[in-house]
Amino acid sequence: MITKKLLNTEQSEIRKIFNMASKDSINLGIGEPDFNTPQNIIDACKTALDKGITSYVPNMGIPELTEAISEKLKKDNNLDIPQNKVMVTCGASEAIMLSIMAFTEKGDEVIIPNPGFVTYKNMVQLSEGKPISMDLKHENDFKIDLDDLNEKVNKNTKCIVHNSPSNPLGTVASKEEVKGLAQIAEDNEIIIISDEIYEKIIYGKKHHSPASYTDNCIVINGFSKAYAMTGWRLGYMAVNENLDSKYNIIDNVLKIHQFGFACATSFAQYGALEALNGSQQCVKDMVKEFERRRNLIYDGLKDKFKVIKPEGAFYIFPDVSEYGTGMDVAQKLIENGVLCVPGRAFGSNGENNVRFSYATSYEDIEKALEIIDKTIN
Ligand SMILES: Cc1ncc(COP(=O)(O)O)c(C=O)c1O
Repeated sequence: MITKKLLNTEQSEIRKIFNMASKDSINLGIGEPDFNTPQNIIDACKTALDKGITSYVPNMGIPELTEAISEKLKKDNNLDIPQNKVMVTCGASEAIMLSIMAFTEKGDEVIIPNPGFVTYKNMVQLSEGKPISMDLKHENDFKIDLDDLNEKVNKNTKCIVHNSPSNPLGTVASKEEVKGLAQIAEDNEIIIISDEIYEKIIYGKKHHSPASYTDNCIVINGFSKAYAMTGWRLGYMAVNENLDSKYNIIDNVLKIHQFGFACATSFAQYGALEALNGSQQCVKDMVKEFERRRNLIYDGLKDKFKVIKPEGAFYIFPDVSEYGTGMDVAQKLIENGVLCVPGRAFGSNGENNVRFSYATSYEDIEKALEIIDKTIN
């Protein structure tokens, strides 16, 4: 018999929606960059293959890569995390899964952003924990309500998941929000699982990691979004020495990684190494293009819907309730050829919203805006 915890795990609502789409739909549904992986990264991977790097590599990741990640954390985030506290995983997804599994037992509570990335809730449920909503409300510009969060914390709370820049909201948490969150974690001995996968896709704002304000933070990041490497399946988790010496996190999650995955793909890790050590111009170019598209879609939606101008990631999350529920409007748009995701796929605070991804061409966004206009008029 399949276990109850697996049977209770829902299929991704996003998948169900995509099954309704026709081949010619304009895709504002997908959550991945439409760019190719930069050539220097591809070449580094090809060189590794040509050199015969096709066997297992250390479970933690190739030492050159964990070292480069440790240096990146110092350079970009001013965090001192030695390479032996950095683990390379199969995408940020695996790192999220391992972190949640490490701290969640039956009945434990994990506070997750709502609306938020779909994986968090499901991973908590698979660990037999209880997902508790950190309410991010449109009327509050989707900011963290620290008082509300404080009220939700109790003796069963083990972790808080934080995601900035946010999928699906496109918001970037301010220094005050992040500091407040860190303080709550400190006061209550809670671990923050900070999903920073969109760190580099940010428009004129500064990224703040809770790890800058508290040791009680596991940093999760990866290569999928910043370097257009979604199919390479490479991410990482990093834990500061104080937190690791308290809970022995890396050694413990390494057990799941060893038995479940062995290691992240060997030759792909050489591509990731080049991503970190090579020129960052590719990231700047992609972010510039995302920003151009962000401006186009925001300007096209702002007079029709209540909508916040995204500051990061590549999603926009308008409130469409003037025209129906998020589900109704998404369905109509999909019928009319624009693929998008109803906000409720991301939690109960998203019922009135629709998520559009602008990780698609400028021309397609222009066409989609015309269809959106016709659909609501
Ligand atoms: C917020 C967030 N975290 C993590 C991931 C997964 O990243 P990866 O491809 O590295 O597993 C995604 C992918 O959409 C995401 O949106």
